[in-house]
Amino acid sequence: MKLIEAASYEKMSEKAAELVIEQIKRKANTVLGLATGGTPVGMYKCLTEDYQNKQTSYEQVNTVNLDEYVGLSKEDPNSYAYYMKEHLFKHINIPPGQTFFPSKEQGEQYEELIASLGGIDLQILGIGENGHIGFNEPGTSFHSKTGIVKLTDSTRMANARYFASIKEVPTHAVSMGIATIMQSKKIILLVSGKQKANILHRLFTEDVKEALPASILKTHPNVLVIADQDALSVLKEQEGSVFQ
Ligand code: F6R
Repeated sequence: MKLIEAASYEKMSEKAAELVIEQIKRKANTVLGLATGGTPVGMYKCLTEDYQNKQTSYEQVNTVNLDEYVGLSKEDPNSYAYYMKEHLFKHINIPPGQTFFPSKEQGEQYEELIASLGGIDLQILGIGENGHIGFNEPGTSFHSKTGIVKLTDSTRMANARYFASIKEVPTHAVSMGIATIMQSKKIILLVSGKQKANILHRLFTEDVKEALPASILKTHPNVLVIADQDALSVLKEQEGSVFQ
Protein backbone atom coordinates (compact mmCIF):
# COMPACT_ATOMS: atom_id res chain seq x y z
CA MET A 1 0.00 0.00 0.00
CA LYS A 2 1.39 3.38 -0.95
CA LEU A 3 0.28 6.47 0.92
CA ILE A 4 -0.18 9.94 -0.53
CA GLU A 5 -0.56 12.67 2.04
CA ALA A 6 -2.96 15.35 0.76
CA ALA A 7 -2.92 18.84 2.24
CA SER A 8 -6.72 19.07 2.29
CA TYR A 9 -9.94 17.35 1.26
CA GLU A 10 -9.86 19.38 -1.99
CA LYS A 11 -6.30 18.26 -2.77
CA MET A 12 -7.21 14.63 -2.05
CA SER A 13 -10.18 14.93 -4.42
CA GLU A 14 -8.10 16.60 -7.15
CA LYS A 15 -5.38 13.95 -6.95
CA ALA A 16 -7.90 11.11 -7.16
CA ALA A 17 -9.68 12.73 -10.12
CA GLU A 18 -6.34 13.28 -11.87
CA LEU A 19 -5.55 9.56 -11.55
CA VAL A 20 -8.99 8.55 -12.85
CA ILE A 21 -8.61 10.88 -15.85
CA GLU A 22 -5.11 9.55 -16.56
CA GLN A 23 -6.52 6.01 -16.49
CA ILE A 24 -9.30 6.88 -18.96
CA LYS A 25 -6.85 8.64 -21.27
CA ARG A 26 -4.58 5.60 -21.22
CA LYS A 27 -7.46 3.17 -21.80
CA ALA A 28 -10.65 4.59 -23.34
CA ASN A 29 -12.69 1.50 -22.46
CA THR A 30 -11.65 1.51 -18.80
CA VAL A 31 -13.81 -0.35 -16.29
CA LEU A 32 -14.13 1.91 -13.26
CA GLY A 33 -15.25 0.60 -9.91
CA LEU A 34 -17.02 3.38 -8.02
CA ALA A 35 -17.92 4.19 -4.45
CA THR A 36 -20.58 6.45 -2.98
CA GLY A 37 -20.76 8.20 0.41
CA GLY A 38 -19.41 11.54 1.50
CA THR A 39 -15.73 10.96 0.72
CA PRO A 40 -15.74 10.79 -3.10
CA VAL A 41 -18.14 13.72 -3.65
CA GLY A 42 -15.20 16.11 -4.20
CA MET A 43 -13.57 13.72 -6.66
CA TYR A 44 -16.81 13.49 -8.68
CA LYS A 45 -16.99 17.30 -8.67
CA CYS A 46 -13.45 17.48 -10.09
CA LEU A 47 -14.34 14.87 -12.75
CA THR A 48 -17.42 16.90 -13.68
CA GLU A 49 -15.37 20.11 -13.97
CA ASP A 50 -12.76 18.33 -16.06
CA TYR A 51 -15.49 17.05 -18.38
CA GLN A 52 -16.96 20.53 -18.73
CA ASN A 53 -13.58 22.13 -19.42
CA LYS A 54 -11.66 19.44 -21.25
CA GLN A 55 -14.30 16.96 -22.45
CA THR A 56 -12.49 13.81 -21.31
CA SER A 57 -14.74 11.23 -22.92
CA TYR A 58 -16.53 8.47 -21.02
CA GLU A 59 -18.18 7.10 -24.13
CA GLN A 60 -16.43 3.75 -23.88
CA VAL A 61 -16.11 3.61 -20.10
CA ASN A 62 -18.12 1.11 -18.05
CA THR A 63 -18.71 1.68 -14.35
CA VAL A 64 -19.53 -0.89 -11.70
CA ASN A 65 -20.58 0.43 -8.33
CA LEU A 66 -19.56 -1.22 -5.11
CA ASP A 67 -22.92 -1.42 -3.49
CA GLU A 68 -26.60 -0.54 -3.34
CA TYR A 69 -29.20 -0.58 -0.58
CA VAL A 70 -31.81 -3.32 -0.64
CA GLY A 71 -35.36 -2.00 -0.86
CA LEU A 72 -34.74 1.45 -2.36
CA SER A 73 -35.73 2.11 -5.97
CA LYS A 74 -33.32 3.81 -8.38
CA GLU A 75 -35.43 6.96 -8.13
CA ASP A 76 -35.16 7.10 -4.35
CA PRO A 77 -32.86 10.03 -3.48
CA ASN A 78 -31.07 7.82 -0.95
CA SER A 79 -30.30 5.05 -3.44
CA TYR A 80 -26.77 4.86 -4.72
CA ALA A 81 -28.05 4.85 -8.31
CA TYR A 82 -29.57 8.26 -7.64
CA TYR A 83 -26.39 9.46 -5.92
CA MET A 84 -24.26 8.47 -8.93
CA LYS A 85 -26.64 10.15 -11.35
CA GLU A 86 -26.62 13.40 -9.36
CA HIS A 87 -22.89 13.52 -8.58
CA LEU A 88 -21.47 12.24 -11.84
CA PHE A 89 -23.43 10.44 -14.53
CA LYS A 90 -25.78 13.27 -15.50
CA HIS A 91 -22.79 15.59 -15.95
CA ILE A 92 -20.66 13.43 -18.28
CA ASN A 93 -21.15 11.57 -21.56
CA ILE A 94 -21.33 8.04 -20.18
CA PRO A 95 -24.07 6.02 -21.94
CA PRO A 96 -26.68 4.93 -19.34
CA GLY A 97 -26.36 1.28 -20.40
CA GLN A 98 -22.73 1.30 -19.24
CA THR A 99 -23.33 2.02 -15.55
CA PHE A 100 -23.94 -0.98 -13.30
CA PHE A 101 -24.99 -1.59 -9.70
CA PRO A 102 -25.24 -4.86 -7.80
CA SER A 103 -28.80 -5.98 -7.12
CA LYS A 104 -30.53 -8.51 -4.91
CA GLU A 105 -31.96 -10.34 -7.92
CA GLN A 106 -28.70 -10.64 -9.81
CA GLY A 107 -26.47 -11.66 -6.85
CA GLU A 108 -23.32 -13.40 -7.99
CA GLN A 109 -24.10 -12.69 -11.64
CA TYR A 110 -22.48 -9.33 -10.92
CA GLU A 111 -19.18 -11.23 -10.84
CA GLU A 112 -19.85 -12.57 -14.33
CA LEU A 113 -20.79 -9.13 -15.56
CA ILE A 114 -17.53 -7.65 -14.21
CA ALA A 115 -15.55 -10.51 -15.79
CA SER A 116 -17.34 -10.04 -19.13
CA LEU A 117 -16.29 -6.37 -19.11
CA GLY A 118 -12.68 -7.51 -18.66
CA GLY A 119 -12.39 -6.92 -14.90
CA ILE A 120 -12.08 -3.69 -12.95
CA ASP A 121 -9.15 -1.55 -14.10
CA LEU A 122 -9.40 0.98 -11.29
CA GLN A 123 -11.51 0.67 -8.16
CA ILE A 124 -12.24 3.70 -5.97
CA LEU A 125 -12.90 2.87 -2.32
CA GLY A 126 -13.85 4.70 0.85
CA ILE A 127 -13.50 3.16 4.30
CA GLY A 128 -16.06 2.85 7.09
CA GLU A 129 -15.21 3.95 10.62
CA ASN A 130 -15.26 0.23 11.46
CA GLY A 131 -12.91 -0.66 8.60
CA HIS A 132 -15.50 -1.84 6.11
CA ILE A 133 -14.89 -1.61 2.38
CA GLY A 134 -17.96 -1.70 0.19
CA PHE A 135 -20.49 -2.88 2.75
CA ASN A 136 -18.30 -5.75 3.86
CA GLU A 137 -18.52 -5.36 7.59
CA PRO A 138 -15.94 -6.63 10.12
CA GLY A 139 -15.90 -10.42 10.19
CA THR A 140 -16.77 -10.83 6.48
CA SER A 141 -14.75 -13.56 4.82
CA PHE A 142 -11.88 -12.35 2.65
CA HIS A 143 -13.23 -14.85 0.07
CA SER A 144 -16.65 -13.20 -0.12
CA LYS A 145 -18.29 -12.57 -3.49
CA THR A 146 -21.07 -10.15 -4.36
CA GLY A 147 -24.20 -10.73 -2.27
CA ILE A 148 -26.64 -9.43 0.30
CA VAL A 149 -25.13 -8.17 3.52
CA LYS A 150 -26.66 -7.06 6.80
CA LEU A 151 -25.55 -3.59 7.82
CA THR A 152 -24.19 -3.14 11.32
CA ASP A 153 -25.84 -0.66 13.67
CA SER A 154 -22.73 1.53 13.52
CA THR A 155 -22.88 1.71 9.70
CA ARG A 156 -26.62 2.44 9.76
CA MET A 157 -25.97 5.19 12.30
CA ALA A 158 -23.09 6.64 10.24
CA ASN A 159 -25.38 6.76 7.18
CA ALA A 160 -28.48 7.99 9.03
CA ARG A 161 -27.40 11.59 8.29
CA TYR A 162 -28.80 11.18 4.79
CA PHE A 163 -32.21 9.86 5.93
CA ALA A 164 -35.09 11.46 7.83
CA SER A 165 -34.48 9.06 10.72
CA ILE A 166 -32.43 5.96 11.57
CA LYS A 167 -35.56 3.82 11.10
CA GLU A 168 -35.54 4.63 7.40
CA VAL A 169 -31.96 3.44 6.85
CA PRO A 170 -32.20 0.04 5.12
CA THR A 171 -31.03 -2.92 7.17
CA HIS A 172 -29.48 -4.69 4.18
CA ALA A 173 -27.44 -3.85 1.11
CA VAL A 174 -25.95 -5.74 -1.82
CA SER A 175 -22.20 -5.37 -1.88
CA MET A 176 -19.38 -6.39 -4.11
CA GLY A 177 -17.46 -9.02 -2.13
CA ILE A 178 -13.98 -8.61 -0.73
CA ALA A 179 -12.57 -11.18 -3.17
CA THR A 180 -14.22 -9.26 -6.03
CA ILE A 181 -12.70 -5.96 -4.90
CA MET A 182 -9.29 -7.63 -4.59
CA GLN A 183 -9.42 -8.73 -8.23
CA SER A 184 -9.31 -5.08 -9.34
CA LYS A 185 -6.09 -4.27 -11.16
CA LYS A 186 -5.61 -1.00 -9.25
CA ILE A 187 -7.28 0.39 -6.15
CA ILE A 188 -7.42 3.93 -4.76
CA LEU A 189 -8.61 4.23 -1.17
CA LEU A 190 -9.77 7.72 -0.19
CA VAL A 191 -9.73 8.65 3.48
CA SER A 192 -10.88 12.00 4.75
CA GLY A 193 -11.85 13.63 8.03
CA LYS A 194 -11.11 13.33 11.75
CA GLN A 195 -13.74 10.62 12.12
CA LYS A 196 -11.50 8.37 9.97
CA ALA A 197 -8.25 9.11 11.82
CA ASN A 198 -8.51 6.09 14.13
CA ILE A 199 -9.37 3.60 11.43
CA LEU A 200 -6.56 4.87 9.20
CA HIS A 201 -4.14 4.41 12.10
CA ARG A 202 -5.49 0.89 12.66
CA LEU A 203 -5.18 0.10 8.96
CA PHE A 204 -1.49 0.96 8.91
CA THR A 205 -0.57 -0.57 12.25
CA GLU A 206 -2.67 -3.72 12.69
CA ASP A 207 -2.32 -7.13 11.06
CA VAL A 208 -4.31 -8.42 8.12
CA LYS A 209 -7.47 -9.94 9.64
CA GLU A 210 -11.13 -10.35 8.80
CA ALA A 211 -12.07 -8.21 11.82
CA LEU A 212 -10.57 -5.30 9.85
CA PRO A 213 -11.84 -5.78 6.27
CA ALA A 214 -9.71 -3.01 4.71
CA SER A 215 -6.54 -4.69 6.03
CA ILE A 216 -6.70 -7.15 3.11
CA LEU A 217 -5.68 -4.26 0.85
CA LYS A 218 -2.15 -4.61 2.27
CA THR A 219 -1.82 -7.86 0.32
CA HIS A 220 -2.83 -6.28 -3.02
CA PRO A 221 0.06 -5.29 -5.32
CA ASN A 222 -1.36 -1.96 -6.46
CA VAL A 223 -3.15 0.06 -3.80
CA LEU A 224 -2.79 3.79 -3.32
CA VAL A 225 -4.20 5.42 -0.19
CA ILE A 226 -4.88 9.15 -0.50
CA ALA A 227 -5.60 10.71 2.87
CA ASP A 228 -6.13 14.27 4.01
CA GLN A 229 -4.56 15.88 7.09
CA ASP A 230 -7.53 15.26 9.39
CA ALA A 231 -7.57 11.57 8.52
CA LEU A 232 -3.80 11.37 9.05
CA SER A 233 -3.84 13.11 12.43
CA VAL A 234 -3.70 10.02 14.68
CA LEU A 235 -1.21 8.19 12.47
CA LYS A 236 1.10 11.19 12.49
CA GLU A 237 0.81 11.67 16.23
CA GLN A 238 1.42 8.02 17.08
CA GLU A 239 3.68 6.87 14.28
CA GLY A 240 5.49 10.03 13.18
CA SER A 241 8.23 7.76 11.85
CA VAL A 242 6.18 6.41 8.92
CA PHE A 243 6.47 9.86 7.35
CA GLN A 244 10.22 10.34 7.77
C1 F6R B 1 -19.90 3.33 -0.46
C2 F6R B 1 -19.17 2.30 0.28
C3 F6R B 1 -18.74 2.51 1.70
C4 F6R B 1 -18.19 3.90 1.98
C5 F6R B 1 -17.81 4.04 3.46
C6 F6R B 1 -17.36 5.45 3.78
O1 F6R B 1 -20.18 2.90 -1.77
O2 F6R B 1 -18.94 1.27 -0.26
O3 F6R B 1 -17.78 1.55 2.03
O4 F6R B 1 -17.08 4.13 1.17
O5 F6R B 1 -18.92 3.73 4.25
O6 F6R B 1 -18.43 6.34 3.64
P1 F6R B 1 -18.23 7.92 3.73
O7 F6R B 1 -17.39 8.32 2.56
O8 F6R B 1 -19.62 8.48 3.66
O9 F6R B 1 -17.53 8.17 5.02
